[in-house]
Amino acid sequence: MATLTYYGHATWALETRGIAILMDPFFTGNPLAPTAAGSVRADFIVLTHAHGDHYGDTIEIARRTGATVISNFEIVAYCQKQGVAAAHPLHIGGGAAFPFGRAKLTIAHHGSSFPDGTYGGQPAGILLEVEGRRLYNAGDTGLFSDMSLIGEAGLDVALLPIGDNFTMGPDDAAKAAGLLRARTVIPQHYKTWPMLVQDPEPFKRMVESSTDSRVVILNPGETFEIR
Ligand code: NI
Ligand code: MN
Repeated sequence: MATLTYYGHATWALETRGIAILMDPFFTGNPLAPTAAGSVRADFIVLTHAHGDHYGDTIEIARRTGATVISNFEIVAYCQKQGVAAAHPLHIGGGAAFPFGRAKLTIAHHGSSFPDGTYGGQPAGILLEVEGRRLYNAGDTGLFSDMSLIGEAGLDVALLPIGDNFTMGPDDAAKAAGLLRARTVIPQHYKTWPMLVQDPEPFKRMVESSTDSRVVILNPGETFEIR
């Protein structure tokens, strides 16, 4: 059984069959992170985009653990210049097989520059298949109707931003849930800073009254079992 641990903001660890996959590892400067970059396990690091609150501690963790960085071509090339030895470039619409299963990049409507201003290519969402389960991480994005295509394959879990300001807020994220039709929806990218303050409870009520999805609200440090 795969497990999904929330580290606050948009940082996640997916563990499957002893393999640790970090998504958007933002620990240093993340006021919600219950642990430090120096103490997390990683065999793979998957990045949705280059913004500092997602790229985060990628270089430090990859150097320490030897983890393989998976992201778009531009982000992978940038990480390799920073000394990351193992990396696998993908791009939007493309996926590949990995020891944990499969990873594919999907569209996201957002920006993607590194903290130093370097262009990070197009931002993405991530579709992961592990142990016969499908997880969609929308990354940072506005609402788009092609989410219904992403949902067609059947999603077990959808991670959706609800923080508003930089991404979908609760109303649009509830519409996204209706298009994606995932079994479980978990909100992310909220509460981190005053601009992102949101109460996830009304979002949960909205989604559960208008879709068949169940909303699970995780506090930083909590783990969800993907059954
Ligand atoms: Ni962003
Ligand atoms: Mn962000």
